[in-house]
Amino acid sequence: MFELNKIVRPHLLDLKPYSSARDEFSGEAKIYLDANENSLAEGFNRYPDPHQTLLKTELGKIKSIRSNQIFLGNGSDEAIDLLIRAFCEPGKDNIVILPPTYGMYEVSASINNVEIKKVLLTDDYNIDKTKILAAVDSNSRLIFICSPNNPTGNLLDTADIKQIADQFEGIVVVDEAYIDFAKQESFISKLGQLPNLVVLQTFSKAWGLANLRVGMAFASREIIDLLNKIKPPYNISGENQKLALQAIENKEFKERSVNELIDLKEALAMQLSSLKGIQKVYPSDANFLLVKMENASSIYQKLIGQGIVLRDRSKVVLCEDCLRITIGTKEENQKLIQTLKPLLT
Ligand SMILES: Cc1ncc(COP(=O)(O)O)c(C=O)c1O
Repeated sequence: MFELNKIVRPHLLDLKPYSSARDEFSGEAKIYLDANENSLAEGFNRYPDPHQTLLKTELGKIKSIRSNQIFLGNGSDEAIDLLIRAFCEPGKDNIVILPPTYGMYEVSASINNVEIKKVLLTDDYNIDKTKILAAVDSNSRLIFICSPNNPTGNLLDTADIKQIADQFEGIVVVDEAYIDFAKQESFISKLGQLPNLVVLQTFSKAWGLANLRVGMAFASREIIDLLNKIKPPYNISGENQKLALQAIENKEFKERSVNELIDLKEALAMQLSSLKGIQKVYPSDANFLLVKMENASSIYQKLIGQGIVLRDRSKVVLCEDCLRITIGTKEENQKLIQTLKPLLT
């Protein structure tokens, strides 16, 4: 049975978080002399809302979730780091990851001196539920499941993820950075059934705002309260809160560009598959393709020589000889095919 208080690092239960000037007074005043800002400056001189209230209210509406179940971070990378720091005692607890997967779970755990248990995906990039549950021990605090998975591009089995969450006494983090490109419902709808679920999403992919660094975590109110308690007070700038809000107001752009990117992905996958030397274009539910080819890392270098950068995943376990290709504009994809073709013979 999952009990949050049993898995939180004990010293955090009694932690008194920093109370910022903007925590102690919120609302409108005529004169602000409470936060040691520069009163002579204009524009950016005031600290932003540390609770990102407006942005969470609007997000809550589009995600059909209460705003007290939303955490916003400086990218979802910040949420990954805070989850590790909230639940894992350095030198004692561990996390479980499913390689090949997004690199920051391992990096964040290593920075925090937290052990990493690796359970490989199967050869066809599916989840091995039995192995994952067998790898868990009494010090396992988090299982990171990336779906659609980076770098393989595929969704992982929903029923398997649910069963893992049902049986695991720690937290299951489902990283949905690429969910908007997939034809599948978000795990957000399962938060009511699974008290140990955390869903990560981001403004960096489908929303087209990677530069802003705004990531989201959705979970029970108790888990979100904990993340808020340990986050730096002003972790999202006011400008970035405003720009993310604007993106939500113009969500047609996101929807249109997602559809266009999916079409471009299908076209690129077809073209790549027809090239000699391409061994496999993996099916993708994301905005990138994993492609297996002869001499992948030498092709990667040659493309750089011609001004085109892909992501070399050829040294990554189960991705030998694979490059990861983000879907570009029609012209960029065309240029890639033209440049790649003579290199593959
Ligand atoms: C699976 C996955 N999760 C999280 C992130 C980080 O996203 P953010 O820009 O919100 O920190 C990425 C970025 O590539 C990613 O691929």
